[in-house]
Amino acid sequence: MLIADLGCSSGPNALALVSIAVEAIHSHCLQLQQPPPEVCVLLNDLPDNDFNTVVKNLVMLHQSNKPAVVTVGITPGSFYERLFTSGSMHLLCSSNSLNWLSKVPEDLMRNWIPAYDVDEHARSERLPMVLEAYAQQFRKDFTNFLELRAKELVSKGRMVVSLVGRRSDVTATKFSYLSRTIYQILSVMVLEGVNDKEKFDSFYVPVYEPSNKEVREIIQEEGSFSIREMQVHDPTTDMNNALSTPSKFVNLLRALCEPILVQHFGDVMCEFRALQSVTGAWRATC
Ligand SMILES: C[S@@+](CC[C@H](N)C(=O)[O-])C[C@H]1O[C@@H](n2cnc3c(N)ncnc32)[C@H](O)[C@@H]1O
Repeated sequence: MLIADLGCSSGPNALALVSIAVEAIHSHCLQLQQPPPEVCVLLNDLPDNDFNTVVKNLVMLHQSNKPAVVTVGITPGSFYERLFTSGSMHLLCSSNSLNWLSKVPEDLMRNWIPAYDVDEHARSERLPMVLEAYAQQFRKDFTNFLELRAKELVSKGRMVVSLVGRRSDVTATKFSYLSRTIYQILSVMVLEGVNDKEKFDSFYVPVYEPSNKEVREIIQEEGSFSIREMQVHDPTTDMNNALSTPSKFVNLLRALCEPILVQHFGDVMCEFRALQSVTGAWRATC
């Protein structure tokens, strides 16, 4: 069996999904009193990911006497392109990664429409257009993702995907809390003269949080997959616990966004971290 995690990152979660899958295969075979199949575990992320750490952990998984794991490997590259040979994969998983778009919405960039105008009036006027552009980009990317994965899976192969989203009954009237906080901190930096306004206006967080209705519609329209189960969890409670202090929250923002912030604005992370008071404002309004 070939299994892969797409967007594995390099932290403690990098092996979590594939390890669970290997355990599940093993206990299923034990129940059926069958020998487990040989398993090949592959981990994917963008080429800039810290694959050295991932490889060390993968080798540990390989040596951990897990009866089923015969080969391990990495597959660097974007999951918005082909990653595996046709009809080769049995199980594909991905968690918290498909929120990342392949690119920021082109219509916004081409027409110089900032994602988050410093001016509040202009911002709320443009917001529906901005959110729609993000939704369209997600639709394109997720459709492409499904088409590619359908080619790579064996017939009756399975995919398990989790992503951060919003409930369908909550209309998208604002950015996700993470994007909003990033824009808020950066806009304060513009107002304080620490950040260049032009640079801020051309910065787009390449993340979208779809509703479960959107995800279902895209899967049905694309047509390669049928949905066996869809669960919606409310992350607010966990999120509040996990991010219970401003510094924890800023650390999370940093972990998620430092590369794209530094790439766009240069060395601004000190100022970004120093603006924890804005994070406090977010916590009060979220
Ligand atoms: C928030 S982390 C999730 C890590 C882990 N899966 C988890 O659930 O904790 C998102 C990961 O997706 C990766 N990612 C984003 N876009 C990607 C793409 N187009 N192809 C492959 N990986 C991508 C990022 O590099 C990052 O490591």
